[in-house]
Amino acid sequence: MIEFNQATQQFHFFSQNDQFTLGILPSGHLAFYYFGEKLGNVDLSYVVTEIQRASYLADTDCIKDFKLEQLPLVYPAFGNPDLRTPAFEVELADGSRLSDLRYQKHQISTKKEIKGLPTTLHESAQSLQLVLYDCVAQMEVTLIISIFPEHDVFTQHVRIENQGITEVQIERCMSVNLDFLSDNYDLLTLGGAWGRETHLNRRKVTQGFQGVDSKRGASGHGQNPFIGLLAPDCQENHGELYGLNLVYSGNFLASAEVDMHQNTRLQIGINPFAFSWALAPGAYFETPEVVMVHTCGGLNELSLRYHRFYQECLLPKKFAKKERPILMNNWEATYFDFDKEKILALATTGKELGMELFVLDDGWFGQRNNDDSSLGDWTPNEEKLGGSLAELIQAICHLGLDFGLWIEPEMVSPKSHLFQAHPDWIIRVAQREPQQVRHQYVLDLSRVEVQDYLIEVLTKLLTENQISYVKWDMNRNITDAGSRGLSPNHQQELGHRYIVGLYRILATITERFSELLLETCAGGGGRFDPGMLAYSAQIWTSDDTDAIERLAIQEGTSLLYPQATMSCHVSAVPNHQVGRITSLKTRGIVAQQGNFGYELDLLALSEAEKIEISRQISEYKAYRRTMQLGRLVRLAVYDATNEHGWQQEDEDYLILNHVFVLAKANTVPKRLKAINLENNARYQLVDSQRFFTGAELMSIGLSIPKPTTDFASTRWILRKLEE
Ligand code: GLA
Repeated sequence: MIEFNQATQQFHFFSQNDQFTLGILPSGHLAFYYFGEKLGNVDLSYVVTEIQRASYLADTDCIKDFKLEQLPLVYPAFGNPDLRTPAFEVELADGSRLSDLRYQKHQISTKKEIKGLPTTLHESAQSLQLVLYDCVAQMEVTLIISIFPEHDVFTQHVRIENQGITEVQIERCMSVNLDFLSDNYDLLTLGGAWGRETHLNRRKVTQGFQGVDSKRGASGHGQNPFIGLLAPDCQENHGELYGLNLVYSGNFLASAEVDMHQNTRLQIGINPFAFSWALAPGAYFETPEVVMVHTCGGLNELSLRYHRFYQECLLPKKFAKKERPILMNNWEATYFDFDKEKILALATTGKELGMELFVLDDGWFGQRNNDDSSLGDWTPNEEKLGGSLAELIQAICHLGLDFGLWIEPEMVSPKSHLFQAHPDWIIRVAQREPQQVRHQYVLDLSRVEVQDYLIEVLTKLLTENQISYVKWDMNRNITDAGSRGLSPNHQQELGHRYIVGLYRILATITERFSELLLETCAGGGGRFDPGMLAYSAQIWTSDDTDAIERLAIQEGTSLLYPQATMSCHVSAVPNHQVGRITSLKTRGIVAQQGNFGYELDLLALSEAEKIEISRQISEYKAYRRTMQLGRLVRLAVYDATNEHGWQQEDEDYLILNHVFVLAKANTVPKRLKAINLENNARYQLVDSQRFFTGAELMSIGLSIPKPTTDFASTRWILRKLEE
C-alpha cells in the first residue's frame, strides 16, 4: 500500500493496478516521480536527475544547476525559486509572500475524516501525512495523500498550521499539484450553462495557462470541479488519462499550465480568486480533498472507477446501494398553479400508473404563487393546500405513495416574514444595495446563528410531517459577497465559510433524519459535485428535460458520477425548454439511464400514453437494480454526431440502449456492440429465443433498426444465463 524506501527516500503508493511515487530531494523539497501503472518499489530518482537543465533559471540554495523550476514538484510554494504558478502562497505579517516548504517528518495511518468537510472513506484506505515546514514563517504544511487500493483511487488534501506568533493570510492553497514532464496531452473538462450542463469539452493543451473555474459561490452550471489530462490517442475504451475531481461545492479552480519547457502543471483546489484566509497563531486550515484516478483503459474505465468509488466511499451509506423510488414531480405539470384537488388527482393517477413517490415542488408555502415571494417562510399555505400539509401528506400516503417536498433553504425573498425579521442575515456588502436574482437574496450561511435557524426550521418541518424525500434547491449565484459576521480581514473567507456552513446543515439534518432521501439541485445541475453527493444520494441533473438535449448532459455527467445519482425525468412534449417533440419511448429510455421519474401533467395523458407509461414503469421496476446500481458505460456508435449508445450491466442483466438524433435515408444498417463482458458468458434476449455469447455481443453486436423518424430509440434487454 504505502511504502517508504529509506535508501531512495521515495514514497510508493501501490494500488491494485497503479502506483503513485514521490520522494524527498537532498534539499528537503519534494519531487513527484510517477503516477501510472504499477512498476514496483524501484528507484525512480533518474526521472529527476536526467532532466536537461536550462541555464537561465535560478539555482536553488546556490547549488549550480539545482533548478526547482524544472523539476516535477509535489507542492510548490511561491517564489522559491520556482516561478511557475505555485500551489501555495501566504502573506506574512511583514508583507512578504515567499515561503520555503521542506520535508520535516511523516507518518502513515488509516484514512480519517476531514473535520467539517465531506470526506471519502473506506476501511482499506491508508494515508501518508507528509509534514513540510517553513522555518521563517513557522508554518507547518501537511499533505495528506491517501490510497484506496481496491478502488485504484488516490486522494489528497492539505492542512496548514500557523505555529508562529503572528497572523498570516493564506492566499492560495490548492488541494493538489501534479507536474508532468510533457505537454503532449489533451485537456478534458465538463462545461456548459444552465439547461445544458456538463458537456464534454476536449482540446489540446498549449503553452500558457488554461483551465476552468467557478466564482459563483457554487461549483456552478458553467464548469464542473473536474479536470482531465488525456494522451492524444485516448478514447472511450483505450488510452491513458488522469482525472482530478474536487470534493467541494464552492468556488474552485482547475488548471493546466504549460511552461517554457513543455511541462504541464495540473492543479485543482479552492479558487484563489476572492479568497484568503487569516490564520491566527495556533490555528489550522484544511483544504477540500481531490479524488485522483489514472488509467490506461480510456474514459469508460475512468468512469467505472469514479462510479464505484463514489458509491462505496462517498455517497450516504444508507442509500448508496439502495434502489431509489420512481417519483412524480409536479413542477412541469403545474408550476405554481395547483391546489389540493389537482395534487391529489396527479398523485392518484401517478399511483395507478405505478409511481412510488409524489414530490410537491415549489409553491406550497407562504404566499408563493410565483417566484417573487416567500422564500424563508417555510410555513405551508393552508389555503392553497386545502388544509394542513400533514393532511395532504396523509391523503397522498393513503394512496400508497411516499411523499417528498421541495425546499430552498439557503434563500430568502425580500417579500417574506423572515427577511422582515432578519434583514441583516443576507449576504451583502454594507452600504451597497444588494442585487436580486429571481427576486431573492442568499442567506449568510457563514454565520452560525443562520445555520442554527435553518437546522431548527428543517427539523420542525421534518418532525411534524411524514416526509421521506426532500428536493433541496439553490436557485441563484452569490453576488455582493460580504458578511456582517466577519471582520474586514476575514471577508475573503465568506465563500468557503458559506460552503462549510452548508455542509454542517446538511450533515446535521441527514444525521437526524437518517431515513430521509435527499436530492439536491441548483437550478438543475448547478451544484452537481462530489461535495453534495456526500449528503445527497441523487442530484437533479438539469432543468432541461428534453430527451435529446439530455443525451449530452447525461453523457458528460456520467463521466464521473454513478447512474443512480443522476435524476432524470420524462416530461411533456413539446418540451418546455426547447419545444422538441420526441416519442414517449425515447423519453423513457433516456430518463432510465439514471434515477427515473416523471414530471408532466398526468391528467392530460391519452389512454395510449398511460399504457406506455405503465409499461415503462413495470420494465424499470423489473430491471431497476441494473439501471440504477449496475455498471454504466458509453458505447461506440457509427456516427457520434448523430447517435448515442450506452450499456447498463450487472451480474443479472445486460441492457443496451441506442438513440438516433436525426433519421437519415438509406444508411447502411449498423450494429451496437457491447463491451466489458466475459467472452464465454451466455445471454438470452428477454422474451425471445435468441442466445448470444459475450464474445458475440462484443465482436458482432446487435442490429440497430433503421430509423423511420427523428429521435428513434432502441433498447435490448438480455438476461445473463447461469454457467
Ligand atoms: C429550479 C429547479 C426546478 C424547480 C424550480 C422551482 O429551477 O431546478 O426543478 O424545482 O426551481 O422553482
